[in-house]
Amino acid sequence: MELTNREAFFKTKEEVKNKNLEISDNEIFLLIEKVNNYQNYTNLVLNFDKNLANINYFNELKERLFNGEPIQYILNSAPFVDLDIYVDNRVLIPRVETEELVTKTRYFIEKLELEHKVIGDMCTGSGCIALFMKKSFTDSSVFASDISKDALEVANKNAKDLELDIIFLKGDKTKPFVNQNIKFDIFISNPPYVQNKNDIEEKVKKNEPMNAIYSEDGVAFYRDVFQNYKKFMNNKFMMAFEINYDQEHQLTELVEEYFPGDKKYMFLKDIYGLTRFLFILKGYKYDQVD
Ligand SMILES: C[S@@+](CC[C@H](N)C(=O)[O-])C[C@H]1O[C@@H](n2cnc3c(N)ncnc32)[C@H](O)[C@@H]1O
Repeated sequence: MELTNREAFFKTKEEVKNKNLEISDNEIFLLIEKVNNYQNYTNLVLNFDKNLANINYFNELKERLFNGEPIQYILNSAPFVDLDIYVDNRVLIPRVETEELVTKTRYFIEKLELEHKVIGDMCTGSGCIALFMKKSFTDSSVFASDISKDALEVANKNAKDLELDIIFLKGDKTKPFVNQNIKFDIFISNPPYVQNKNDIEEKVKKNEPMNAIYSEDGVAFYRDVFQNYKKFMNNKFMMAFEINYDQEHQLTELVEEYFPGDKKYMFLKDIYGLTRFLFILKGYKYDQVD
């Protein structure tokens, strides 16, 4: 049996409607592009009346989409600022908030002329943060860690594919950095921080690794960093964290407890107006920071 791309699209759109699924036209287009190995939407439009390259493969991908699997896992691709990141179900799909975290971090490094010879990314997952930092600051040495061997395999693949040189370490929280005696100028992390499982969408629960999102004690990762920072940070540094929308109060107490004396810290909001980022600076002239 043969089917044109146009027929495949409208047939699938009809099935989506009949099954009452929350699947957009764009997701169907992306599946058709993947099956035909088209590089972009223009390519699809120009070939819309050509035959679909492989119906069985299309049906296999369609079944996964109908079963609720995120399109990024099906395509093995997620955009992250200007990078195309390989993803599968061993890693969290990079989120827009994390794109904000890294672009803000880059902005502060440049605007405040911060030291950035050595950069650390704890809980690297797909490697998106470390990859972005290395691409932005090619002369920096970038270290990234995760407890998951599976995640580190994905991160390594991304580093190879994107030709970005990153040193990956396996281990719990800050331990790998302490053990290797590394001293960072910039430390950046998006750790697991969701304490209330009701805050996690069903689709996320069903598909993405829970240990990437859930933390029994929502601030455990930040506390570990704050308690041990002298072992892996230089005297002058900036730390940048993605945090949950309800953690400002708890984290303020922790920052005040673990960073007595001179420091500057800022909680920043994301594009939705939620407080989602914490930046801590130590050792700089803070009037420059305001
Ligand atoms: C929220 S995901 C972040 C992934 C990636 N940095 C991003 O922003 O998309 C958290 C990551 O922490 C890792 N992780 C979970 N527990 C850990 C631990 N105890 N020590 C180090 N990494 C851990 C998970 O494997 C996961 O890759």
